[in-house]
Amino acid sequence: MKLSPAVLAGSLAVRQEIDYNSAPPNLSTLANSSLFETWRPKAHVLPPSGQIGDPCMHYTDPETGLFHVGYLHSGAAGATTDDLVTYKDLNPDGQPFIVAGGVNDPIAVFDGSVIPSGIDGKPTLLYTSVSYLPIQWTIAYTRGSETQSLAVSSDGGRNFTKLEHGPVIPSPPFAVNVTGFRDPYVFQNNQIDSHTGSAPGTWYVVISGGVHGDGPSQFLYRQHDADFQYWEELGQWWHEPANTTWGNGDWAGRWGFNFEVSNLFGLDENGYNAEGEVFTTLGAEWSLDPIVPQVSDFREMLWASGNVSCEDGKVKFTPSMAGKLDWGHSAYAAAGKELPATSKASEKSGAPDRFISYVWLTGDYYGTLDFPTNQQNWTGALLLPRELSVGKISNVVDNELVRETGSWRVTSNNSGVVELATLKQEIVRESLAALITNDSFVEPGQTLSSSGAVSFQQTPKSKFHVITASISSPQTCRDSNLRAGFQILSSEFESTTIYYQFSNESIIIDRSNSSAAAATTNGIDSRNEAGRLRLFDLVEDGQQRVESLNLTIVVDNSVVEVHANGRFAISTWARSWYASSREIRFFQEGDGEVTFGDVTVHEGLYDAWPDRT
Ligand SMILES: *[C@@H]1O[C@H](CO)[C@@H](O)[C@H](O)[C@H]1NC(C)=O
Ligand SMILES: *[C@@H]1O[C@H](CO)[C@@H](O)[C@H](O)[C@H]1NC(C)=O
Ligand SMILES: *[C@@H]1O[C@H](CO)[C@@H](O)[C@H](O)[C@H]1NC(C)=O
Ligand SMILES: *[C@@H]1O[C@H](CO)[C@@H](O)[C@H](O)[C@H]1NC(C)=O
Ligand SMILES: *[C@@H]1O[C@H](CO)[C@@H](O)[C@H](O)[C@H]1NC(C)=O
Ligand SMILES: *[C@@H]1O[C@H](CO)[C@@H](O)[C@H](O)[C@H]1NC(C)=O
Ligand SMILES: *[C@@H]1O[C@H](CO)[C@@H](O)[C@H](O)[C@H]1NC(C)=O
Ligand SMILES: *[C@@H]1O[C@H](CO)[C@@H](O)[C@H](O)[C@H]1NC(C)=O
Ligand SMILES: *[C@@H]1O[C@H](CO)[C@@H](O)[C@H](O)[C@H]1NC(C)=O
Ligand SMILES: *[C@@H]1O[C@H](CO)[C@@H](O)[C@H](O)[C@H]1NC(C)=O
Ligand SMILES: *[C@@H]1O[C@H](CO)[C@@H](O)[C@H](O)[C@H]1NC(C)=O
Ligand SMILES: *[C@@H]1O[C@H](CO)[C@@H](O)[C@H](O)[C@H]1NC(C)=O
Repeated sequence: MKLSPAVLAGSLAVRQEIDYNSAPPNLSTLANSSLFETWRPKAHVLPPSGQIGDPCMHYTDPETGLFHVGYLHSGAAGATTDDLVTYKDLNPDGQPFIVAGGVNDPIAVFDGSVIPSGIDGKPTLLYTSVSYLPIQWTIAYTRGSETQSLAVSSDGGRNFTKLEHGPVIPSPPFAVNVTGFRDPYVFQNNQIDSHTGSAPGTWYVVISGGVHGDGPSQFLYRQHDADFQYWEELGQWWHEPANTTWGNGDWAGRWGFNFEVSNLFGLDENGYNAEGEVFTTLGAEWSLDPIVPQVSDFREMLWASGNVSCEDGKVKFTPSMAGKLDWGHSAYAAAGKELPATSKASEKSGAPDRFISYVWLTGDYYGTLDFPTNQQNWTGALLLPRELSVGKISNVVDNELVRETGSWRVTSNNSGVVELATLKQEIVRESLAALITNDSFVEPGQTLSSSGAVSFQQTPKSKFHVITASISSPQTCRDSNLRAGFQILSSEFESTTIYYQFSNESIIIDRSNSSAAAATTNGIDSRNEAGRLRLFDLVEDGQQRVESLNLTIVVDNSVVEVHANGRFAISTWARSWYASSREIRFFQEGDGEVTFGDVTVHEGLYDAWPDRT
């Protein structure tokens, strides 16, 4: 049955048949909830319905070993997992475990973080309690708008009860004209202990923000008492001049004007280590208009690692490398937590102490797109959890490619051959193992040297699959106009092209032809996504070759994650309309030869929410 849009709009109760074999109508004219399944992912974290905001407030419950993943959702809500594959909502219908409306937070609850064994040994949440809006780095800051308050859970995280007293961090440092002062992140760190003469195991808080006219900052605080009631100000332990960049900006965007959602943690090559190298993930906000920026036009999801030192009695952080945690325009507000080896999930998989991070993928470009939200009845998702560690790239030729100020640093130098360190980030091993199922097919490799798209011999059964492949090319490709990769979610009507462009070392996701709905409906973003990945020259058996590009492409209906070489990620939406848009093709354009190898398609993904009806 096909109804006219006018009839559909007025017939909420009528279960609607949508025809995915013909051109879409203007989707904004369809009935509420009629697009609920159209683009919904199944392996990703998102609430049963409605909007998901920043991930935050994760922790492992010491009593149960369950990992709690939290996110802003009518306050903050969450779920638990014992395997990092499937999740259970903490409350029925994904209801929140904390909501705004208390004395400290009459207006809103913003991001926070949890001390797993805090007050009375219970999970203790330190969060931003909001009393006035709007809050924007582009406008004058309203005094008292963001304070940091405590709440404690006694029921396994289903409800966090606010303490009956004022905020424990009631204001920004004295006389600092902040652009923002939020997202408190609690952590422990040996290096900071020794620089500040603190007892081992002392808790610290980093609060994100910046200073008007001056630039973005991380504000550092130290635990003062066993009940976490007082926090001693240690100053702006990291500050960058306004709107500056790391190096020339190619590898880590702009530091911007205001930091948000900073996490701080120690890593080594195995994962989390409080004595390891200090890393931070952070959001940076900036805009183009220097005179009257009303909003933040740009948000970048960055990471940095660096040295901790002591200057004039103040502990300081100095970056030694920085990069993007995810290059997608919609990917932001990552929140991570250490996941101990004693957690349920790690006991099952045998994993060591890890640091796990979830990145948010906004569904309507931070609320700026006129997306058919009522028709879909959910907005946004969290990307698959990633495990972060210190990554090494060995046997790298010591040439100009390694000497730039980039998202890596040189760790050793052996007469012309160097080893590099960088942030390693991979889909958590449990999720990856569950994605890489035995319901898979191998597509024979190809060597292509002329422009075109070559269809796979086999088409996946659904829009839920993972493609793994490696692409290799000769060194001469760097100076050519060559582009090579895959077209996914393709049919005679639509396709999304993911390719490496050698000339500017970029992985690009071309969405200009991703969705037939973009032509009929507002708010279907079809802009390209682009991120930079350097393929180094490697020495092997005395021969030089270009590092191969190893891709893991996760297609979870409309959510597309592209992971490469254990150190690159770019994620976005590709909202294909036609049922037939499932084909995969090899893609080559320009001059040069590329070889595609080890191409496997893993079908079906998994249902992360088996308990939801
Ligand atoms: C659709 O949802 C919106 C938002 O909840 C609501 O205002 C509107 O009345 C709904 N439309 C119908 C036909 O129920
Ligand atoms: C949490 O518990 C308190 C006290 O019982 C109650 O007032 C509050 O509504 C609960 N909060 C949520 C989000 O359920
Ligand atoms: C803080 O900065 C804002 C924006 O530049 C400015 O309007 C305001 O006057 C400043 N406040 C103080 C106390 O300096
Ligand atoms: C920040 O720097 C960029 C690059 O130079 C520039 O385009 C932009 O206008 C600057 N933003 C502001 C608000 O000054
Ligand atoms: C960080 O510390 C290392 C070892 O002490 C030193 O070699 C390096 O120059 C320092 N980097 C920065 C950015 O201070
Ligand atoms: C979205 O779904 C929820 C839960 O089923 C429902 O209560 C709500 O009315 C729906 N909203 C719209 C706009 O359809
Ligand atoms: C490696 O060592 C050589 C010889 O000392 C030196 O010339 C070169 O600049 C070093 N390379 C890097 C990347 O530091
Ligand atoms: C996949 O592996 C599981 C466990 O080894 C086995 O039970 C199942 O039959 C296999 N499925 C296919 C399609 O081979
Ligand atoms: C969109 O993709 C289809 C199928 O690949 C192709 O026929 C069509 O020309 C493309 N349109 C544009 C504008 O690229
Ligand atoms: C689709 O319909 C909505 C609601 O009637 C309207 O505001 C919008 O302009 C239409 N979009 C297009 C592309 O025609
Ligand atoms: C590389 O160049 C393409 C245009 O050819 C552009 O779309 C893309 O944004 C560039 N990459 C980066 C990381 O800026
Ligand atoms: C990339 O894949 C190739 C071929 O499977 C493999 O030899 C190489 O170790 C992989 N590199 C990385 C960085 O995973």
